[in-house]
This record gives sequence, C-alpha cells and structure tokens, in this order.
Amino acid sequence: MTTTAVVNQKGGSGKTTTVLGLASAASVRGIDTLVIDLDPQCNASEALGIDYPTDGQTAADLLAGEFPGGAAEVVQASKWDHVSIIPGDLDLSDIDAVAGLGVEQRLRVALDSEELRQQFPLILIDCPPSIGKLVSNALIAADSALVATEPSFMASRGVSKILQAIETIQRYYNPSLTVAGVLIGRVPAQAREAAHRSAEIREALGDLVLPEVVPQRAAVAEAVGDRRPIHEVRPLVSEVTSAFDAALDRVLGGARP
Ligand SMILES: Nc1ncnc2c1ncn2[C@@H]1O[C@H](COP(=O)(O)OP(=O)(O)O)[C@@H](O)[C@H]1O
Ligand SMILES: [Mg+2]
Repeated sequence: MTTTAVVNQKGGSGKTTTVLGLASAASVRGIDTLVIDLDPQCNASEALGIDYPTDGQTAADLLAGEFPGGAAEVVQASKWDHVSIIPGDLDLSDIDAVAGLGVEQRLRVALDSEELRQQFPLILIDCPPSIGKLVSNALIAADSALVATEPSFMASRGVSKILQAIETIQRYYNPSLTVAGVLIGRVPAQAREAAHRSAEIREALGDLVLPEVVPQRAAVAEAVGDRRPIHEVRPLVSEVTSAFDAALDRVLGGARP
C-alpha cells in the first residue's frame, strides 16, 4: 500500500484534478484505490459521484475519532470502477479549531490497518488549499507528497512554501515522507508566460518536477463535471492521460532517487 497526499496551499492549483487523474489512471490498470477527500469543498467526492450531504460517514467523522476500527469502517464505493472513497464534509473545516491531543495524528492512526493494506494498493488524499491541521494529517499519514501546481507566478511561489511545510513534517513527525514530485498542470498551449513559469519551476527544483505536464484541455473539466474518469473520454485525450499515467508511475515507484 502506498499513500500519497496531493498538496498545495494555493486553491485552483490542480490538486483535485490530479487526484482524479491519478485515480482514473489507476482504475484503468485495475488498481484498487481509496480516495480520501480532506477538502471541506468536497470537489473530489462530487466528481466520484458522492453528493453532499452523503448518507454514509465522512472524513470529518473519521477525524473526530469515532471509529475505533479505523478508516476501513467509513469507506464507501464510488461511481468509478476500482475506486472507493472516504467523502469530504463541510465539517472538516472545524478541525483547525480542535485543540485536542493527537489531532494531527488521527488519519495516520486510522489508516494503520491490515484490512486497508490488503484492500488498497493505493490511497490518494485530496487536500484543502491551506497548511493547517488537515494537511498535517495528510502529510503525517502519507508515504509521499505530490505537489500540484499551475505554471503561474503565484503558484510557483506557493510550491516552495509547501515544500518547506513538507520538510517541517519530515523533521518533526514523519521522517519517511518523500516528495513524489511536482506536477505542473493546466498548461495552456502557446502561452509564453506559462512556458516561462514552467521553466522557472524546473530551474529551481530540478528532477523533482515531473518531465510530463498536464495540458489545459476542456475535456478535463468536462470529465470532472460529468463525473467520469478522464481515461474514459472519447476521443481519448492522450496528452492528458499520458501525463497522469506518468504521475501514477512516479507515485507507485515510491521514493525518487
Ligand atoms: N488540465 C486542465 N485542463 C482544464 N481545466 C483544468 C485542468 N486542470 C484543472 N482544471 C480546472 O481548474 C480548476 C481548478 O482545478 P482543481 O483541480 O479543482 O484545483 P484545486 O483542487 O487545487 O483547487 C477546476 O475548475 C478544474 O476543472
Ligand atoms: Mg480541490
């Protein structure tokens, strides 16, 4: 089992799209995947066919510590083959106000389960656009972090900030956390600003940045709106699917050299 948190404290940087793209790539390969939606906006849950409010339990219930059996008790099927979900919840936004002992370790403890290890080779955590207790929970529970970013000025500044937060988590809580990489997404065709920013990010971060980028395509947002995996869209948007396939390889490959 490998657990990856998709992070960036900036909103609209492509986190949810990346989680969905990775889940889509895993689904095509028949890899049973659990998506944990830690964003109170619940975008990943919606795209996977779970309407809010959901009938079942949510990530907020899990982090409230109500399930002694851990995360396996709150997993639901999603509308996608091979993809299960622990849905998001508006109440997740309350977690930052919770000052209880061990609050940042709750997801790690909840995922420490033989049942989950047997069931899911891959766990993906969609994170909110912040660096607070939710993202700490994700980074403490994860084996790796994948940073999703767009090629804009603000986003490229955001990447170094989230990498610093990852270092802090490594130092104080989770020494085995690795950075799977930085995935540049929503790259417009023929935009000089985007090309410049992508080059700047690559220059600053070197091999950490995945060589493949996710191009901006209407089909990506449409697939999300239609609640379908991007790999099912016809005609196939192969520049997009191949970028997510490569990102999945990076995530499954574990620690980068
Ligand atoms: N490659 C892409 N092509 C077209 N639209 C995209 C692409 N990536 C993301 N988007 C759109 O950009 C917006 C922000 O992306 P999202 O993944 O929701 O970011 P975040 O989860 O970081 O807030 C969404 O409306 C999404 O559909
Ligand atoms: Mg999101």
